[in-house]
Amino acid sequence: MSKTNEPDRIFIFDTTLRDGEQSPGASMNLNEKLRISEVLEDMGVDVIEAGFPIASNGDFEAVREIAKRVKNATVCGLARATRADIERCAEALKGAERPRIHSFISTSPLHMKHKLQMEPDQVHEAVFASVTLARNFTDDVEWSCEDGSRTEHDFMCRCVETAIDCGATTVNIPDTVGYAVPDEFASLIRMLIDRVPNIDKARISVHCHNDLGLAVANSLAAVGAGARQVECTVNGLGERAGNAAMEEIVMALRTRQDHMPYVTGVRTEDIMKASRLVSGITGFLVQPNKAIVGANAFAHEAGIHQDGVLKHAGTYEIMTPESVGLTMSNIVLGKHSGRHAFRRRLAELGYELGDNAIEDAFRRFKDLADKKKEIFNEDIVALVDDSAGHADLRVRLVALEVLCGTKHRPPKAELELEIDGEVKSCKATGDGPVDAAFNAIKRLFPHDANLQLFQVNAVTQGTDAQAEVSVRLEESGKTTNGQGADTDTLVAAVKAYVSALNKLLVKREKTQPPALSA
Ligand code: KIV
Ligand code: ZN
Repeated sequence: MSKTNEPDRIFIFDTTLRDGEQSPGASMNLNEKLRISEVLEDMGVDVIEAGFPIASNGDFEAVREIAKRVKNATVCGLARATRADIERCAEALKGAERPRIHSFISTSPLHMKHKLQMEPDQVHEAVFASVTLARNFTDDVEWSCEDGSRTEHDFMCRCVETAIDCGATTVNIPDTVGYAVPDEFASLIRMLIDRVPNIDKARISVHCHNDLGLAVANSLAAVGAGARQVECTVNGLGERAGNAAMEEIVMALRTRQDHMPYVTGVRTEDIMKASRLVSGITGFLVQPNKAIVGANAFAHEAGIHQDGVLKHAGTYEIMTPESVGLTMSNIVLGKHSGRHAFRRRLAELGYELGDNAIEDAFRRFKDLADKKKEIFNEDIVALVDDSAGHADLRVRLVALEVLCGTKHRPPKAELELEIDGEVKSCKATGDGPVDAAFNAIKRLFPHDANLQLFQVNAVTQGTDAQAEVSVRLEESGKTTNGQGADTDTLVAAVKAYVSALNKLLVKREKTQPPALSA
């Protein structure tokens, strides 16, 4: 508790768009990053780490656009401890209301020797120079000691003290390789509080990776020891096994106030929306038993549990489904629902669309209602997400017909695509109906991209459920994810492929990022 007896505030630093995007295959385009940043801002995240501006022109552009648009959250860009990185980062953040430069350098003996090939004194000098330079551009500078959990304590204290002396207002202690265990990590934070003389001039942050499945536990242990910022990502996305999951941090703090008397500024009711958006965009499915946002997180299978929950929800539920944005009465609209009800439901689901976008979504909703009697919230979300960002596409699906089954060997697909304004059609066969349809796409629009992921997910229950398909394509080291939703799985598959292909065409025109590590 603080001196005022108010629970202490924990600042939530979301790095879905930076560390999250570093997950292999999770690359996002500008439009997707803007949509995620909008949801993060609306849900009350304190800091949005929008990217690593020097990494590529795409990253620079994303940080610059997010910086211009986000007004309530701090927008942060990552930079190594070099002049070029920091200047590029400052340039990208120019339009931000609250810009933060996040500069980092490795401090563990292993990283200094083998990765940086620098002596500790040189690293220390780089801390001084980088934070001093960053402070010329903004008052809000965060400094991180990469591989902090494997750094010698004396050297960490020396670097942290220097970073704060040079004007860092946040010092971040990463468990970069997910090696720490909770009591050890908490002791590390306490050690800094005890030993660094100017520690009270900065906020302590933690950034934990999940290699041993301990990222959330380590982050919460650090909060108990005095850390006041937690770096995390939606659905725990991130390098290798990912980062601490934001929804787990926030809900643990909210649910266990008795043990952890801290508050965050996050509107937890937006958690499902953010989770679904990030999963849809990246094609990274959420495992059904994932805490907070998994499909089974609030499902009760055993009869004895169902009976208990019906008598008193608290018997087996420690949080309400509503508190994370799950509505229990999920059947919402149908064939006869009008524009007004549709618009209101969109608003309840957190979508603020312009008139044209609402009109477009409403037309698609009516088409869907012709195919499907009950329209669930998930259907509406899939429908709106499926139609987002469809302007300026070079390739569009016009028509698809597929012949398959035991009597039609091999399966045949007849496909019509609009390519750069011209409608073209062809027939193709394949090992299965999806293969035939994808072969037809390749015939109409020849390309060498490899299919890295093909994933089908039923949006709701029942055989008339919409299928939501994710496709990941890779070409010369560049990957893109595409999504498509439809009550016809094959149509959804072609939509997803075409969506990934369109993104790849945009990416082809952009410069190749240099190999960077963070
Ligand atoms: O994991 C890590 O150490 C990082 C730093 C750049 C904060 O991502
Ligand atoms: Zn990281």
